Amino acid sequence: MSNDKYNLSFPPNFLWGAACSATQTEGASLEHGKGKNIWDYWYEINPEKFFNNIGPKDTSNFYSMYKEDIKRMKEIGFNSFRTSISWSRLIPDGRGEINQEAVNFYNDVFDEFINQDITPIICLFHFDMPLAMQNIGGWENREIVEAFAEYAEQCFSLFGHKIKYWTTFNEPIVPVECGYLYEFHYPCVIDMKRAVQVAYNTAIASAKAIEKYKSLKQDGKAGIILNLTPSYPRDNENPEDLKAANIADLLFNRSFLDPAVNGKYPEELISLIKENDLIPVISDGDENILLNNKVDFLGVNYYQPRRVKAPSKVWDSNKPLMPEAFFDYYQWPERKMNKYRGWEIYEKGIYDIAMNIKNNYGNIPWYVSENGMGVQEEERFINNEDIIEDDYRIEFIKEHLIWLHKGISEGSNCFGYHIWTFMDNWSWLNGYKNRYGFFRVDIENNFKRSIKKSGLWFKKVAESNSLEISAK
Ligand code: BG6
Repeated sequence: MSNDKYNLSFPPNFLWGAACSATQTEGASLEHGKGKNIWDYWYEINPEKFFNNIGPKDTSNFYSMYKEDIKRMKEIGFNSFRTSISWSRLIPDGRGEINQEAVNFYNDVFDEFINQDITPIICLFHFDMPLAMQNIGGWENREIVEAFAEYAEQCFSLFGHKIKYWTTFNEPIVPVECGYLYEFHYPCVIDMKRAVQVAYNTAIASAKAIEKYKSLKQDGKAGIILNLTPSYPRDNENPEDLKAANIADLLFNRSFLDPAVNGKYPEELISLIKENDLIPVISDGDENILLNNKVDFLGVNYYQPRRVKAPSKVWDSNKPLMPEAFFDYYQWPERKMNKYRGWEIYEKGIYDIAMNIKNNYGNIPWYVSENGMGVQEEERFINNEDIIEDDYRIEFIKEHLIWLHKGISEGSNCFGYHIWTFMDNWSWLNGYKNRYGFFRVDIENNFKRSIKKSGLWFKKVAESNSLEISAK
């Protein structure tokens, strides 16, 4: 062992920052002219489903604290930040009249980012369907695709002179899985055929938004944010395990990655969907819409891998078809866990993603748009100076950055790294259970923010554009 230290440098102009979403941070969810979205409504009818009965109404209060928050971001070295526009804040009914208060709010927020020299990356949809749109079928209804494209066009026209990085969706597979298979999002349907329709319409909605962006000829870029969970088979030599991993990859990763980046679905996925009678309703011209509106860049959220093996038995045909008909989950004996969130920590996954994008997706420019570690009851780690000593988070980020750096040094075109997240925020059904932030948010004390050790550590990394590590 030596005490020598050395630095890993990242490419010039590398983006350092964090991500969050409107519903998870703005608060004021029923004020200032905002319409309800599915989260406001679900909480209204089923508050008991939400951890400690905390709903979306008062999430972290960014709506009124954004100025101080953006200043805090600057203080810890951020040069970029992603958040989303709340569709139901901007257009309360999803279609039609615009809420001028929302226009003013987003203009002020974007100006503040620009004043602080922080590049805003803006997402148009982060799980928050306006209730009025869900009431007429949500993503199952093709009309919503048109409504989304109109909303996107409004955003580009209103804010495009300030925003140069747009993303259409955050993790579009999540509302498919959680809303139409596993009951973690409203409308809590379990139906794989409907799930496929939702996924398909979402992919078309993304391409249509990009089409609008291109037609406006603005001078920015339009991308999409995908949660890529590399699928690892139990046994690389076992053809049945390999088949299972390939299907998981097709369903959960390539179902959005291929149409977004390559402009078309993988043939293998089309066959799988056909063989299982899951073909969605397709409109004339869709093929060209996808082909002509590929993304300019990709954001990748990476938290955990997916480990699978061949299914142990044939799927019971009396049960509704689920993705698990095609694979069983597998626990790798050497796995390292984030026991609070129940997710495996596998740092090398970020390198595998980097290489996959380089080798199979034309080395499209991409950035890590989310990576992070949610931990419960972090107050346990408060020191005498009132700082949470979250060394586990520093370790987590450091190890991921080492693998990311290796991917970049081998030619992967990665232009940034964003943590989830800047300050503790509301995590959907999990409320404020797992905390992810560089800043602690005291929800019992007016949402007071205080820096954690990881925030101070990140400042050094971001400001030096490099990671100091010890030689082992
Ligand atoms: C991503 C989402 O899936 O992970 C965020 O984009 C989410 O919205 C984050 O909060 C962390 O997951 P969770 O479920 O612990 O909040």
